[in-house]
Parts: sequence; structure tokens; C-alpha cells
Amino acid sequence: MSKVRARITALGRYVPPRVVTNADLEKLVDTNDEWIRTRTGIRQRHYVEPGTPTSEIALHACRDALHKRGIGADELDLIIVATVTPDMLFPATACLLQDKLGAKKAWGFDVSAACSGFLYALTMGAQFVETGAHRKVLVVGADVMTSILDFQDRATCVLFGDGAGAVLLEPGDDGTGILDFSHEVDGSGEPYLHMVAGGSRRPTTRETVDQRLHFVRQEGGHVFKFAVRKMAEISLRVLERNGLSGADVDLFVAHQANIRIIDAAQQRLGLPDDKVIKNIDRYGNTTAGTIPLALGTALDEGRLKAGDTLVLASVGAGFTVGGALVKWSGVNW
Ligand SMILES: CC(C)(COP(=O)(O)OP(=O)(O)OC[C@H]1O[C@@H](n2cnc3c(N)ncnc32)[C@H](O)[C@@H]1OP(=O)(O)O)[C@@H](O)C(=O)NCCC(=O)NCCS
Repeated sequence: MSKVRARITALGRYVPPRVVTNADLEKLVDTNDEWIRTRTGIRQRHYVEPGTPTSEIALHACRDALHKRGIGADELDLIIVATVTPDMLFPATACLLQDKLGAKKAWGFDVSAACSGFLYALTMGAQFVETGAHRKVLVVGADVMTSILDFQDRATCVLFGDGAGAVLLEPGDDGTGILDFSHEVDGSGEPYLHMVAGGSRRPTTRETVDQRLHFVRQEGGHVFKFAVRKMAEISLRVLERNGLSGADVDLFVAHQANIRIIDAAQQRLGLPDDKVIKNIDRYGNTTAGTIPLALGTALDEGRLKAGDTLVLASVGAGFTVGGALVKWSGVNW
């Protein structure tokens, strides 16, 4: 009998039905399909109807996960929501989601780690399961990025989409589950990717709105270089400290921010195409949603089976860096 680990026993996901293509964006900003495809790998993304909050898309993903596992929300102990687009600054989206789900005995909280949010939340949730404190933890990555996009800024608005994913963590001792993780923060990265206004440093005023400071801003080139370096570094670290190498990886599931970032990490890890999930063409960067959505794509394509060794990796605003080593437990799909 091996150590009790947190196993992923269900996966749910949701993207809103409205598809926005690169051609659609050409009508809004000075851009073109060829630039977006070749620089980012994105062909389309999904947008919510304006006014749809993050808790709503999270709710769909959670219900999907619970349905696939065949349990009710009243069985949940804890709900962790990773998001940078909470419904409001407080209460936490996890509280609003707990109510919508009817998860009567669950407590919950939000995690703010941008594109690394899902991995931070996943490994946090795993601690509660491994210690025996909880038996059913729902980890959600959800973002309505359109609520913070500046559709006058062509360099950022083309990159993102809306979407949500949720996984259920439960204890098990069959050797599968979350085996290890390594996370980092480099707070000096703040100026390169941020939303300046709306917090205590720059409360929202007429002036901050006029200056469009309530939208996401980034210095793409700087973020790109950092992401290329760190995505590979964190992946190699979780492998090497477990005596593994790229050759032991069955599937590499990276945050989907730019196809060139994923390609660079793939090359450093020495992985063939069939061991790397890429779905950024369909969804764009959904921030906390990308990794569960990518796991969903892997299941759709029959590329994920029980016992597989997975490396999950992310880089996001903060800067935050996340890496996890997972032995896949198998889920109903
Ligand atoms: C944003 C990103 C795609 C830009 O690619 P890039 O190759 O670095 O391109 P640059 O920013 O150097 O811009 C090159 C040119 O394209 C232009 N451009 C920017 N956005 C454009 C768009 N949507 N359409 C057409 N042209 C565009 C720029 O204005 C620039 O023009 P110039 O040379 O005349 O000044 C890339 O930097 C990136 O993906 N960064 C990481 C972003 C990220 O992952 N963020 C989320 C955090 S995980």
C-alpha cells in the first residue's frame, strides 16, 4: 500500500458557445488572421455574453465534473477557485459558487495567481486531501478574460478567451495522483503583466477609467522571454528531482498562452508532438482555465489513460510559475 495521495477523480469544463475568430477581431482592431496565427497559434476563442460572471461559467464546469463522478454538490468539503476575474473584489467567487452549486457543507476561497492559478489551487487542494482533512475537494480554474480586455489594445485583446475547468480531488493509495510540485514567484515581474486599477493602490476613479487602467496590460516580449525560460525549467525540475527525464513523460500539459512558448518547452524536454497537448488554436489563453481545458482535449482525443505520467506547467502574471508531476488516475469521460 503506497502513500495516500490526492487523485483527480473527475474533470469538468465549460466554454461559452459564442466563437470569435481572428477575422471577427479584424473588425475591431488593426490586426489580421495571419499575424495572430503565426505569432500566437490562436485561430479562435470563446466569449461569454457581456455581463456573465466567472461564477456562472465555473458553475457549468463544476456541474459537469460532479455529474461525471456521479455525486452531488452536498458531498463537497472544499471549493478552491483560481481566477483573476472574480465576480467582485469580495466576497470570493468560491463563496458565490458554493451557493450556486448548493454545496452546503463546503467552505472555500479564491486563489490569485493568474495563469498559474489552477496549478497553485490544485496543489493546495491536494494538501487537504493528503493530510486527511478532506475527502472531496473541487478545484476550479475559471476566467472571464473579456471582462478585463481592452478592445482598443490589439497586442493583448487578441490573445485571450473565456473558459472554465474543474477537477475533483479525492484520496487514494494506488500510487496515482499528484506526485510532486514545484512553484515559484518572482514579484519583480509585476510591471510587465498587470491590471493597475481597481485595487487599494489605485482605487477606481473617473481618471483611472479614462486612462483605461482597469484593463489587463502587458509587455508581451518580456513576458514571452520569461515564460519560455521558466516553462521548461520548472518542468525539468519536477522531473529531475523524481529521477525522471522527458523520456518518462506520457503527456506534457502546459498553460496555453502562446504556441511558441509551448513549442520551446517541448523542444527543451525532447518530446514528440504526440506527447504534447496544444489547443490554444481553439480557445486562446483562458488564464486559469487552460490546463483543465487541455486535459479535456487530451481525453477527447483518447490521449490520456490511467497510469500515464503527466507534467503540468504554467507561467503567469506575478510572475508566478507552476509545475506538477501527476500520475493519471483515470476518470469517467
Ligand atoms: C504578445 C505576443 C504574441 C507578441 O508577439 P511578438 O513577436 O513579441 O510581437 P511584438 O510585441 O514584438 O510586436 C511586433 C509587432 O506586431 C505588432 N502587433 C502587436 N499586436 C498585433 C496584432 N494583434 N496584430 C497585428 N500586429 C500586432 C506590434 O505593434 C509590433 O509592431 P511594430 O514592430 O511596428 O512595433 C508575444 O509577445 C507573447 O505571446 N507574449 C507572451 C504573452 C503571454 O503569454 N501573456 C500571458 C501570460 S501567461
